[in-house]
Amino acid sequence: MIEINGLVKRYGDRLAVDHLSCSVRAGEVFGLLGPNGAGKTTTISILATLLPFDEGEVTIGGYDLRREAERVKPLIGLVPQELALYPTLSAWDNLAFFGRIYGLRGSRLRERIAAVLDLVGLRDRAGDAVRTFSGGMKRRLNLAAGLIHQPRVLFLDEPTVGVDPQSRNFIFEHVARLKAEGVSIIYTTHYMEEAERLCDRVAIMDAGRILALGTVKELLDLLGGGVIYAGLDAEALEALLPHVRSLPRVKAASLQDGRLKIEAHEVRTALLELIELSNAQHLPLRSLAVLEPNLESVFLHLTGKRLRD
Ligand SMILES: Nc1ncnc2c1ncn2[C@@H]1O[C@H](COP(=O)(O)OP(=O)(O)OP(=O)(O)O)[C@@H](O)[C@H]1O
Ligand SMILES: [Mg+2]
Repeated sequence: MIEINGLVKRYGDRLAVDHLSCSVRAGEVFGLLGPNGAGKTTTISILATLLPFDEGEVTIGGYDLRREAERVKPLIGLVPQELALYPTLSAWDNLAFFGRIYGLRGSRLRERIAAVLDLVGLRDRAGDAVRTFSGGMKRRLNLAAGLIHQPRVLFLDEPTVGVDPQSRNFIFEHVARLKAEGVSIIYTTHYMEEAERLCDRVAIMDAGRILALGTVKELLDLLGGGVIYAGLDAEALEALLPHVRSLPRVKAASLQDGRLKIEAHEVRTALLELIELSNAQHLPLRSLAVLEPNLESVFLHLTGKRLRD
């Protein structure tokens, strides 16, 4: 449904999207997971035809994004990170506005407005001005606006930021329902729990690049068993490193931010052996952490940084 090949976007000297390639199937929920500034919104904005790009090829539904943008537009819906609603207009009038942009008129437009208001549970607030809505209600209306023309491809840019748990669950359920209807969804988030829960495949993004791409299970396998961080005094770090490297279950060991980073096959056994080793060498461990196998750990493993500060 979506094919992206070598996409590059620069803002002046800043490379916001750096040779990004991936594809999304029909009915697939594809996650873009990355920290602030990773390039998620930029990528989504390009796919939604809102932003030009510098290099690469993109097709959506078989249409070339550069040459056939007018064909692509009816296929896609965008739920932007920044709310795009008119506060003084009612929910109904906001949806009417977006529906007309997509060429809906008359009874068809009215039907679709009623349907999406039902979908997001705002039918009884249809006549109220949007400025009287809560944050979560605005988010839901934002979602409804992206769905008014029944797009086959939906871009959701951090749709759960600033919403209450109830609206958040509500959005999750709708993503699942749209997926079941065959809609392809690109879902950006910096919450790994959302990516783990919703997405068929996840691309981990940082500094405009995809660092890893696969199912959540495939990404967790990149940790290959587990990672241990051990803190020691500075001289002790250097002294222990070669011994750690020779432990049978240790795949790799290095110094990272003043700690020993140890990648191990069987993390529990490796941990016991590490403790024995430090006792035997009289090089005491000052701190010890074992990475949980989750996407946050995968990100830390790939970048040395945390997903969220
Ligand atoms: N209009 C712009 N002009 C110049 N630089 C921009 C512009 N928009 C984004 N950038 C830069 O491009 C990079 C990617 O930004 P982008 O908004 O795509 O990140 P993001 O992954 O969506 O981050 P967030 O999680 O904060 O929403 C950042 O370095 C950002 O500063
Ligand atoms: Mg963003």
